[in-house]
Amino acid sequence: MSVQKPARRLTAPDIAKRKGGEPIVSLTAYHAHTAGFLDAHVDFLLVGDSLGMVMHGYETTVPVPLELMIMHGQAVVRGSSHALIVVDMPFGSYEESPEIAFRNAARILKETGCGAVKLEGGKRMGETIRYLTERGIPVMAHIGLTPQAVNVTGGFKTQGRERAQWEAIEEDAAAIADAGAFAVVLEGMAELLAARITKQINIPTIGIGASAECDGQILVLEDMLGLSPRVPKFVKEFAQIGSAIEDAVKAYADEVKTRKFPAEEHTYGMRDDASKATKKTKMTGS
Ligand code: KIV
Repeated sequence: MSVQKPARRLTAPDIAKRKGGEPIVSLTAYHAHTAGFLDAHVDFLLVGDSLGMVMHGYETTVPVPLELMIMHGQAVVRGSSHALIVVDMPFGSYEESPEIAFRNAARILKETGCGAVKLEGGKRMGETIRYLTERGIPVMAHIGLTPQAVNVTGGFKTQGRERAQWEAIEEDAAAIADAGAFAVVLEGMAELLAARITKQINIPTIGIGASAECDGQILVLEDMLGLSPRVPKFVKEFAQIGSAIEDAVKAYADEVKTRKFPAEEHTYGMRDDASKATKKTKMTGS
């Protein structure tokens, strides 16, 4: 008798090996339920700290606490079995020192069961990325537009649209690849620069607003489903779930008010309902 082994969950090295091959597909996920819908169709799911803005109403990702990332990370791991799960390290949990970054990244891995963490920053995070990877923690880096730096940059600004910016960003990319990151998110970046970086480094580049030149793509799920009130230029809305939800809720409210819902098929009668038995007798004549 042959026993079929369950398919193995993808790992950080599996993603790293995809450099220059078939494009890597990824999305953000914040809960078990949606992770279940996405799992079979993506290579990795990112529990992004964007959940602070999308799910919890914060204006930026800066206030997101580590505990929230762990809680959502656990849910996404429980709801999936195929995709690599990457959990974002929130602002304040890794910048201070490699040791503090290790302690918090280890908590994320141990408490969620995810396969990797992501952190923002280029050259300045090189030492930390090396420290983590040498100690068993796969790291995805994130350069270009880095939302956690919004208070320094003054807004969510696309990077590399002027050639004068290129050298520093290319140095960031080289530094994080050299430090051992297994992949890097390029966010909000001019196509020409994203193409140059993708050619220059030996780890996959995952674009979000960084063109089809990258080795893979990621979007925030709620943005691509049409659930977000405003989306940046680089988002394609593959569905209009927001308006579908509104239509469904309006129909529900109307039916509750007119007592059309719940109908008989949604209602529990008695097991020995005498009125039903009488109705049946009348109809069949027996
Ligand atoms: O937090 C997030 O969702 C992200 C993606 C935008 C890459 O970092």
